[in-house]
Amino acid sequence: MSTNGHAANGASHAEHLTVIIVGAGIAGLSAAIFLRQQGHKVTMLESSRFANEVGAALHIAPNSNGLLKRMGIRAEDINGTLMRSVTEYNEANVLSRDVDLTQANKIWQHDWTLLHRVHLHEELKRRATSPDGPGFPVELRTSSRVIDVDPATATATLEGGEQVVGDVVLGGDGVKSVTRSKIPGGDVKPKPSGKSAFRFLVPRQVALDDPVTKDFVSRDGQLIIWYGEDRRVVMYPCDANRQLNFVCIHPRDESLSIGAAEGEWNTSVGKSCLLEVFKNFHPSVLALLDKAEADSLKVKLALLGDAAHPFLPHQGQGGGCAIEDAASLGVVLQRGVQPEEVPERLRLFEKFRMERAHQVQEYSRLAGLDLSERKLDMMEYTNYNFGHDEWDYSSNAFRRWDWARKPHLYWRMPVSFGPMPGPRQTFEGVPRNALDSTFTTASIKFKTSRTLLQNLFPSSSFRFKSPGTVAYASFSQTTLNKMEWLGGSGYRHIGLYIHGVEFVQKSGEVLHGTFMPILFESLTDPIVSGREELGMPKLYCSVDLWRRKDSFRIQTGWQGATFGNFLLEGLQEVDPAADKGTIGGEDDDGIFAYKYIPRVGDRGKADVEHATFVPHAQEAHVVPSTVSKVYKATKASFELDPLDWESLPTLHHVVSRLAEIPVYEVISAKLVEGTGVPDVSSARRID
Ligand SMILES: *[C@@H]1O[C@H](CO)[C@@H](O)[C@H](O)[C@H]1NC(C)=O
Ligand SMILES: *[C@@H]1O[C@H](CO)[C@@H](O)[C@H](O)[C@H]1NC(C)=O
Repeated sequence: MSTNGHAANGASHAEHLTVIIVGAGIAGLSAAIFLRQQGHKVTMLESSRFANEVGAALHIAPNSNGLLKRMGIRAEDINGTLMRSVTEYNEANVLSRDVDLTQANKIWQHDWTLLHRVHLHEELKRRATSPDGPGFPVELRTSSRVIDVDPATATATLEGGEQVVGDVVLGGDGVKSVTRSKIPGGDVKPKPSGKSAFRFLVPRQVALDDPVTKDFVSRDGQLIIWYGEDRRVVMYPCDANRQLNFVCIHPRDESLSIGAAEGEWNTSVGKSCLLEVFKNFHPSVLALLDKAEADSLKVKLALLGDAAHPFLPHQGQGGGCAIEDAASLGVVLQRGVQPEEVPERLRLFEKFRMERAHQVQEYSRLAGLDLSERKLDMMEYTNYNFGHDEWDYSSNAFRRWDWARKPHLYWRMPVSFGPMPGPRQTFEGVPRNALDSTFTTASIKFKTSRTLLQNLFPSSSFRFKSPGTVAYASFSQTTLNKMEWLGGSGYRHIGLYIHGVEFVQKSGEVLHGTFMPILFESLTDPIVSGREELGMPKLYCSVDLWRRKDSFRIQTGWQGATFGNFLLEGLQEVDPAADKGTIGGEDDDGIFAYKYIPRVGDRGKADVEHATFVPHAQEAHVVPSTVSKVYKATKASFELDPLDWESLPTLHHVVSRLAEIPVYEVISAKLVEGTGVPDVSSARRID
C-alpha cells in the first residue's frame, strides 16, 4: 500500500507527488515516464497479469515521435519502420494515387514511424520501471484490478478491498475506463461509430513468397489503402519492415451477423468472416487477406484509443494522442508541484488538451466517412496532426498561465521570454533583499544660477521654491555593491540634483523635491530597468574613482573621452549622527524625474510622457539605510569639458549644458558610507 498522507502533511513542502496510474497501456506508461522525469513517485495498477499489448501496429507520427525522444526512446532502436509512401487503390485494385513521402516528410523534424505495439509497450515498460533513469523507478503492479476510484481522496480500490492512496489518480485504462466514470460528466459510454475493424499481422516474407501478392509488399515503408464504398483495407509494415499490419474497416453489422458479439473488444473470429466481408475486392487483395492466421485475427469496434478520447483508427493518431496527453501531464505536474495544487493543474491539463484532442478526433471521424459522404484525402489533416509538439505547446501554455496569475510581475522588453528580473524582483516576482547592500556616496553641493537650471525643467509644472536668482544643486556619485540582483556585484552612478524644486500637480497640490535631469550609470542593467520601470533619465558613462587617504577623485568618460573631473580633498571623519541625507537636498521630500518614451515610427511624439516622484520617507521605509561613516571635505571642485560631437557623439548635448552651470560657491562636500540600498520601488507617476 502506498500512501504519503498528503492531507496530514499540511504546510510542509512535498518533495514529490505520489501518483497512481490505473492501467499500464501506452497511455499509462507514457504518463508514468513523464511524471518520473519530474521526480514523482508513480505506482501503476494493471488488471492483467502481464500488462502486455496485443499484437498490432501503430503510427508514431512526427508529433508523437518527438515526445518519445523526450522519454529517451528512439523509434529506430525498437524496430521502427520509416513511413516512405502512401498508395491508394479502389476495390478493383485500380491505382488512384501513389505518393512518395520522402520529400514531403522533410518538413517534419522527427520521422513518421510505424511501430509494433508490443515493441513500443515493452520499451515504455522498461523505461518506466528501470532502476536507471531519472527519479524513482515506477512501481508496476500487475493482477491489480481497480474496481473503484475516489478522485476526492485520490484513492483506488482494488478487487479484494485493498486501497491505494496517493496525491492524484490518473486513468490510463482504455476505452472502457473505470476512472473516466468517476470524472464529473465522464459517465458516458463510447458511442459506436457503426464500423468495426479486423486487425492482424502477417509476416512480410509470406506475402513476398506468393507471386500474386509480392508486388504489394516489395517496397519498404509503404502504406496501401484499398477503398471500397463503405469499407477499406489498410496495410502497412512494422517491425523493421518484417511484418505487415492490417486494419480492415467495414460496417459493423456484417461482422456482428457472422459471429462477433456486441460489445466484444477482442473476439477471435473466423477468417471466413473477413474474406466474406471483403469478397467484392480484387482477388489479389483477397489473396493477401487470406494470409491472416485465423487465430491471430481480432475484431474491434472501430473506436480505439484511451480513456479520455477514444479514436477511430483512420488517422493513426490514437496512440499519438495518448502520448501527447502524457507529455502535457508531465508539464502541468512539473517538479515542485504541491499536492494541494493538483486539482488546479489537472484542470489546466484538460484546458490545454481539449481543443486539439477534439480536433484530431473530429478529423478522424471525417477521415472515416464513406466515400459517398465526402471526398476522402488521407493526407488532408496531416499538417494539423504532425505540426505540433505537445511538450512545447503545454510548456508555453503553462508559462502564460503562471505569469497571468502574478499580475505584480514587471514586464519589460524583451517580452518573448517572460517577465524581467531586476532590482525590484526576481524572475518569479519575489522582492529583492537589499538590506546588506552597501553604498558610498560622494557629493558636492554648490550655489549656482536658478535662471540657468530652470531651463532643464521638462515641463511648466516644475518651478523653484525661492524667488531669488540663485539656486542650489549637487553632483552626487554613488558606488553600490553587494547587490543581490546583480549576483553580489555592483555599479556606479553620478547625477545632477537640483534642490528646492516644486511640482504643481493638476489638482493644485504642490510637491517639494530635488529634480534629477540626468543620471549617468556604468552598467546597462540598471540603466534599462531604471529608465523603463522608474522613468529615470539614465545614460551610460564610465565612472572611475581614486580613493586616497584624505581625498576622493571621480572621472567620467565615454569610450576613452574624459569629460568630467570631480575632486573632494581634506576628508575628515565626522559623527554620522550629525549628518542628514546623502545627496545634499536636506529640505526636499523626494526626487523628481521625467519619463519620456518615444512612439515608434512617429518622430517627436511620445508614447508616454510624465513626471515621477520618489518620496524619501516612503523609500526609507522599503529598505532602511544605515549610515556607518561620514567624511567631510575641506575643499571640493569639479570641472566639465563638453569636448565635441566627435568625442562624445551621444552625450555632447548633455555634457555641454552641464558644463555651462556656474559655481558661485561650493557649499559642502562629503563622502557617506553605509548599508541598505532602497530599491526605488516607491517611485510613482505624478500627473
Ligand atoms: C525487434 O524485433 C524483434 C523481432 O520481432 C524482437 O524480437 C525484438 O524484441 C524487437 N526489439 C525491440 C527493442 O523491440
Ligand atoms: C482475446 O479473446 C480470445 C477469445 O475470446 C481469448 O482467448 C484471448 O485471451 C483474448 N486476448 C486478450 C489479450 O484479451
